[in-house]
Amino acid sequence: MPSHSPRVRDRAVSRPDVPIVERLADEARFIRSWFGNPTLAGAVSPSGRWLAQRMARYVDPNRPGPIVELGPGTGAITEALLRRGIAPARLHLVEFDRSFCRLLARRFPGVQIHQGDAYRLGDRLKGVLDAPAAAVVSSLPLLMKPEPQRCALLAEAFEHMDPAAPFVQFTYGPVSPIPRHKYAGPAFTAEVSAPVWLNLPPARVWVYRRATAEDHTARPARPLLDLAARIARGLPRGGQ
Ligand SMILES: C[S@@+](CC[C@H](N)C(=O)[O-])C[C@H]1O[C@@H](n2cnc3c(N)ncnc32)[C@H](O)[C@@H]1O
Repeated sequence: MPSHSPRVRDRAVSRPDVPIVERLADEARFIRSWFGNPTLAGAVSPSGRWLAQRMARYVDPNRPGPIVELGPGTGAITEALLRRGIAPARLHLVEFDRSFCRLLARRFPGVQIHQGDAYRLGDRLKGVLDAPAAAVVSSLPLLMKPEPQRCALLAEAFEHMDPAAPFVQFTYGPVSPIPRHKYAGPAFTAEVSAPVWLNLPPARVWVYRRATAEDHTARPARPLLDLAARIARGLPRGGQ
């Protein structure tokens, strides 16, 4: 009889190319970290490979510049970024948990690891990046932080990023973890993936980019509101 729960076993199977002992050890590390500080860990086990691949797909390996990963944990998303073709030397990982930092250093030679608080990103990256970042990929448990702090994180990240670069964030929540139109800060656009059902629990990936002048003038798409207005006015769907 297996000594671990079916849920843990299913997750472990979702990274088939990593030895089972290592995958189960990562599960144990996460559970330990979650018991130690649930608001820091934000999850009881590492992201599955489908979610990690979905996150990595938003990063263009051909866009020059460093890639910053926030909250890499045991490296599920780091691994997907490397598989995407990003050279280790381009990757900067910002992780608070010292034991995860030691593990990441052993597991991913050549990757740059910065122990510290990602919500003080300016301090943490001061003098570190040699060019604006081509992407920031975050699995920080944002929902554990007040909304203004999440917005401040995005604003601080934008300061270190190429203007067209994506800030990629996954969430288990139903809405954007960075609230829109609520707080002062840089204007940004947001797009969201379909749910990644094969992750447990299912997650969505949000991608935020700094808004351009064009975005400011473009009218946002509101198909449901538009349809409701047409119905209220008694007009057919394509009518004026
Ligand atoms: C939900 S886990 C994600 C881990 C991994 N990226 C994954 O997807 O499996 C969140 C990670 O963010 C780290 N973390 C939480 N708050 C942090 C902070 N303020 N600064 C840096 N890392 C933080 C935690 O230690 C943990 O490794």
